[in-house]
Amino acid sequence: MRMVDRVDILRELGLLPVWRLRAPPSAAAPREIASPPTVSPPPTMRDAAIDPARTAPGAGAVERVARIATLGWSDFAADVQACTACGLCRSRRQAVPGVGDAGAEWMFVGEAPGAEEDARGEPFVGQAGRLLDNMLAALGMRRERNVYIANVLKCRPPGNRTPEPGEVDACRPYLDRQIALTRPKLIVALGRSAATTLLGVDATIASLRGRVHRYQGVPLIVTYHPAYLLRNLPDKAKAWEDLCLARATVRALSDAGLQSAAAAPN
Ligand code: URA
Repeated sequence: MRMVDRVDILRELGLLPVWRLRAPPSAAAPREIASPPTVSPPPTMRDAAIDPARTAPGAGAVERVARIATLGWSDFAADVQACTACGLCRSRRQAVPGVGDAGAEWMFVGEAPGAEEDARGEPFVGQAGRLLDNMLAALGMRRERNVYIANVLKCRPPGNRTPEPGEVDACRPYLDRQIALTRPKLIVALGRSAATTLLGVDATIASLRGRVHRYQGVPLIVTYHPAYLLRNLPDKAKAWEDLCLARATVRALSDAGLQSAAAAPN
């Protein structure tokens, strides 16, 4: 069987002939790093935490959040599987905690498991997942290496409906724990649901993409959800631009780390 090569992947992404950034690499450096003022989120963009007005947690809920914040990887998946904090536990086949490299530099966050993910217990294994794998491959990456993939919700909403605010709030401690355990250099929010949840802002993808945000101090890039891209092929090129910005951001952070290590006294 013929090996799948980069050209096949770029063809699959609708990116042939090869898409390149027009600006030279230095000019294409991530805006957040090049110009700090864009780092601070506008007032509507809080570094979102659970909204007390929506949840008003009782003592049990507070304890639950505190307990999840101390989970290690060894207990994490079992804890998610046993979760009954919202009604989705009644309709799921199984919870879908996340997949990938526990110390990954890149973390991708989608919305919620769909039917195939609910059946297999792994995020992004359906058609959208195959496109995500191809996007990763175009960057020379794959889900097992240096990449961690999670969703805002760990359980499938019936009929793949949009997550409800109470479900998002109930599940957020798990996502926060995944971020704390993985300590990624960069988060990529896939689609509006992930982006608006993480950034705590009601905005379109078009208005959020193209710059570096932050979630809990971690640089965050917004791009289109792979399922959306399957229906809107011309926007694949924009998603590729976003991934190039993401790659430039990770590289700039690595270079900055190397420089400060080199400058440190022995
Ligand atoms: N869509 C998502 O947002 N997540 C998945 O895991 C699958 C489809």
